[in-house]
Amino acid sequence: MKKDITIEELQLKIEKFPRIKIAHTPTPLEFMPNLSKNLGGPKIWIKREDMTGLAYGGNKARHYEFEMPEIKNQGYDTIINIMDYHSNNARMTAAAANKCELKYILILKNAQGRKVQGNLLVDKILGSELHLLNESQSIKANEYALNLKNDLEKNGRKVYLLQDHLFPRIVGMIGFVEAGIELKNQIEEKKLSNIHIYGVAGRSLCGLILASKNLGLNWKFTGVTVNYDMPLDDYIFRHNNDIKEALDLPITFYEKDLNVLDQYVGEGYGIVTQEVIEAIHLAAKTDAIICDPNYTGTVMAALIDQIRKNNINENETVIFIHTGGLPALFTFSEELSDLSF
Ligand SMILES: Cc1ncc(COP(=O)(O)O)c(C=O)c1O
Repeated sequence: MKKDITIEELQLKIEKFPRIKIAHTPTPLEFMPNLSKNLGGPKIWIKREDMTGLAYGGNKARHYEFEMPEIKNQGYDTIINIMDYHSNNARMTAAAANKCELKYILILKNAQGRKVQGNLLVDKILGSELHLLNESQSIKANEYALNLKNDLEKNGRKVYLLQDHLFPRIVGMIGFVEAGIELKNQIEEKKLSNIHIYGVAGRSLCGLILASKNLGLNWKFTGVTVNYDMPLDDYIFRHNNDIKEALDLPITFYEKDLNVLDQYVGEGYGIVTQEVIEAIHLAAKTDAIICDPNYTGTVMAALIDQIRKNNINENETVIFIHTGGLPALFTFSEELSDLSF
């Protein structure tokens, strides 16, 4: 029979990793009374991972507490990161690299000639060395990065190409196992029960699932897909044993632990749907919560739709995980300022 572990045991497993303090934690757990009333369904709470600090906040601030020491302790002095135009990861890695005095080179796919706004504007202000690729260069972005890495290494730099390593793919789960411990304490303090967590189907949610399962908490999880190009098998599920080993956990996560909703993506990542636009406006007009158009707006749209369809029991306590992404709001100013809302 499976044996749950204690909070102290779980915390010790996290503490074996070298760490620097970056994120502002614990992040608040707040009630959304007006949205809950407006929708007339379950009570909705929000875990404010958008308030972690680090150049406009987001889930990644927790990751870099572990990732930066991992990179620095191996003697690397330069990071190369390959990301997409809207990437929040690109921005938050830039901020963490600055704090840790690492040179940061950002290769942004499909970004040449596009608006210097949102995350890209912040990347620029943070002083990232930017390589904005056009569509055909983007297909060979890995080759582009490897050439750059070789040139830098010939000049004596020690270069960490993020996409070449396993740790960056699982570190987000480590940070969110700890967020799970934090959340458990907040849930108890506020005397909440029947917990149903809504968030982006990704690593942060898996971290929370790991915390819930290993501590025997029975939280329920719904993960919302935001990107068809990143199949969840490759993105998260294939790493369930890697994280189990890295954290030396008695139990890991599986597909069945997560109810995946993939009907809210619309045309694809980076193309905002009417439902997401409405969700962003509704969360803002009710409880003054700002969601982003790529990630948290999609989760909010899914949550609103599921409540309106009576698919969530009124006795449940919904906790919406706000994972950040706010600079992207400004990249979508035209779509979001449509006056019909
Ligand atoms: C705002 C936001 N939320 C959620 C995610 C998903 O991240 P993860 O898989 O680490 O949970 C991302 C990824 O970049 C993001 O930028």
